[in-house]
Amino acid sequence: MTRQEALDSIKANVGNENLVKHMLATEAIMRALARRLGGDKEEWGLTGLLHDIDAELTSGDMNTHSKLGADLARELGATEAMAHAILCHNEAHGVPRETELDKALFCADPLTGLITAAALVRPDKRLASVEAKSVKKRFKEKSFAAGANREQIARCSELGLELDEFIELGLKAMQGIAGELGL
Ligand SMILES: [Fe+2]
Repeated sequence: MTRQEALDSIKANVGNENLVKHMLATEAIMRALARRLGGDKEEWGLTGLLHDIDAELTSGDMNTHSKLGADLARELGATEAMAHAILCHNEAHGVPRETELDKALFCADPLTGLITAAALVRPDKRLASVEAKSVKKRFKEKSFAAGANREQIARCSELGLELDEFIELGLKAMQGIAGELGL
């Protein structure tokens, strides 16, 4: 599967632009994590890119979300490792996270929301003016971007990463595609 094929399929299945941006942001963080941890950048990036491809098709039904996504990814030619990571990023299925790829997707997913929210409260709403230390501060404010599950983000520890480093890596990764994210 090429990245373009993945993107084409996303465009066919996801109408919400913010959801597409979320998937692009997750891709960027996954690529950075692969670089940091010695994973396959293409495989990890495409896993992040595709992980919510079924979000609109399953319209919030957590019993089917990510099961369908894993199937769609397989049809596109994803490896079994990619499909597994997509499947178990939704805890509702009770499928344990086994590989580094599984664990990386799980903690990268909510970090995008926290960083996006940190940009949107800046006067210029730009990622370029967000500092890692302010994201770290916001992490501790439970009411800020409450949907960004802090416990899930903190599971970066399962990858041997300190929270501070993970936030810095995620911020840098998203700043690198700020244009695409419109931030
Ligand atoms: Fe997601």
